[in-house]
Amino acid sequence: MLITFEGIEGSGKSTQIVLLYNYLKEKGFDVVKTREPGGTVFGEDLRKVFLQQDVHIFPLSELLVFMAMRAQLVEELIGPALQDGKIVLCDRFVDASYAYQGYGRGIDLGIIETLNRLVTKGIRPNLTVVLDCNVSEGFKRKAANGFSMDRFEKEEATFHRKIKRSYLKLSKEDPKRFFVVDGKKRVDDIHMLIRDKVEQLLKNHGI
Ligand code: TYD
Repeated sequence: MLITFEGIEGSGKSTQIVLLYNYLKEKGFDVVKTREPGGTVFGEDLRKVFLQQDVHIFPLSELLVFMAMRAQLVEELIGPALQDGKIVLCDRFVDASYAYQGYGRGIDLGIIETLNRLVTKGIRPNLTVVLDCNVSEGFKRKAANGFSMDRFEKEEATFHRKIKRSYLKLSKEDPKRFFVVDGKKRVDDIHMLIRDKVEQLLKNHGI
């Protein structure tokens, strides 16, 4: 079972993933938490260079590096964990490429789809939680957490608005897989909504 979390910067996905992880663990499920970019030694090392503000990376190079990190994460962690019947929670996955490199940077969505299929070996999330919030709200939260701007966070607000819209578009195109939650709600309320959705999903899969 693969559950992914998506959203713009500061949408609260990292907080929610931890809450869900703790909840599932407490209930005795075999659960693994990971993230993109990163999640492996190779990925976490690349992430550091990759997110630096002062490194100029062209859109196509950016896409291919994300794909390389994803291939590694799937081979090393996600694939084996799913094989073992574990629940995998991943902070960003395939949809971030459509949102950021596709809608954000303008790369052809068909190319992204082909690459995604290749690097994930056809693994698709069973559920994708999108935390939807305003760009200004997201940045306010990041600022409150004492953020230091990375390469993406320093992009214009229009770029981030595009990302927000693209996640909503992706959700509309595949409403069965996506679950959009209003990120303005209280942290506990969001957690309860996600919890209910996940419990329903596990039940439907006889888990
Ligand atoms: P993330 O770890 O979510 O940042 P933070 O912890 O600061 O919220 O992701 C880092 C950035 O990488 C984020 O701005 C989105 C970007 N990204 C892409 O552009 N494409 C991708 O495929 C992925 C996985 C992330």
